[in-house]
Amino acid sequence: MPSLPEQIGALRNTFLSELNSITLSQELEDLKTKYLGKKGPIQALMIGLKDCTADERPQLGKLINDLKTELLSHCDHSLTRLKTQELEERLAREALDPTLPGRRPSLGRAHPIHQMMQEIIDILVGMGFSVQYGPEVETDYYNFGGLNFAPDHPARDAQDTFYLSQDLLLRTHTTTIQVHALENHKPPLRIIAPGRVFRNEDISARSHVFFHQVDGFYVDKNVTFADLLSMMEDFMNKLFGQKVETRFRPSYFPFVEPGLEVDVRCTSCNGAGCRLCKHTGWLEILGAGMIHPNVLKKANIDPDEYSGYAWGMGVERPLLLRSGIPDIRLFTENDLRFLAQFP
Ligand code: DAH
Repeated sequence: MPSLPEQIGALRNTFLSELNSITLSQELEDLKTKYLGKKGPIQALMIGLKDCTADERPQLGKLINDLKTELLSHCDHSLTRLKTQELEERLAREALDPTLPGRRPSLGRAHPIHQMMQEIIDILVGMGFSVQYGPEVETDYYNFGGLNFAPDHPARDAQDTFYLSQDLLLRTHTTTIQVHALENHKPPLRIIAPGRVFRNEDISARSHVFFHQVDGFYVDKNVTFADLLSMMEDFMNKLFGQKVETRFRPSYFPFVEPGLEVDVRCTSCNGAGCRLCKHTGWLEILGAGMIHPNVLKKANIDPDEYSGYAWGMGVERPLLLRSGIPDIRLFTENDLRFLAQFP
């Protein structure tokens, strides 16, 4: 068994070598408890003193005490050094660096449908039209009756129209605003009517229960069908550029005579036929015609003195076409990855 002074020397050496490898103040606290705590080796040596002779005891006791004092002072020194170092590191980590680039807040933007609507409005305002809005909840008269729909017209069926009561409904088109405008203003009138409309339809890639339209009409003396065609041609070119192929087709709406529809080549399939164009190669985007004399008469405008043209177009479909979007439902899913593509 080594002598007590030898044990003390060995203890000092192992302590010092452990101390050397310490980098954190917490480790140092642990080391201090390990050597100087109640269950540590110094305490054990103290307890061992009782086996010494009374002669040796004072001298050996002093050796142990000196070791204890020495280790404590090592601990104190190292602790101060480590704490200072840790504080400096923390300050460096948390310091404000004013040269770092700032974080950009993500800005909201107009919904693509709103953007498209605004673009259509801008073109038409540039052509001399003024904007009028109307309510989404309408009476049967403004949606149908005032527009020369027969009482048994199939569009009045609850299959196509959301009724709120016997007489109240969600408007199925923005042509309602034509009825209000003709009732309230004297011609000449050049008005466009943007807004949201509702139809009781199955939701699919190309149709939804609500969508947006921009209607428009021009009433004056001597407004002709040729005026309508040239206006449509001009408008389509401004909206799509010369790139997109269009076709005009005779059609029927109760509130115009004659009536026509304008189709645009499906850009999703380039005319080959796809889900979006119901495999026809064409997308119908606009209905138009000369305002029916009955509609003018109902608004107390003399159809012998005045004539007018009118049209109504969807907003979603031209947008699908132009941006090559395959499915109308994307507009209402509010997926930011989709929306962010319309800066
Ligand atoms: N309101 C019709 C629809 O929603 C579109 C339309 C056709 C509007 C001809 C018009 C028009 O003003 O003259 O399908």
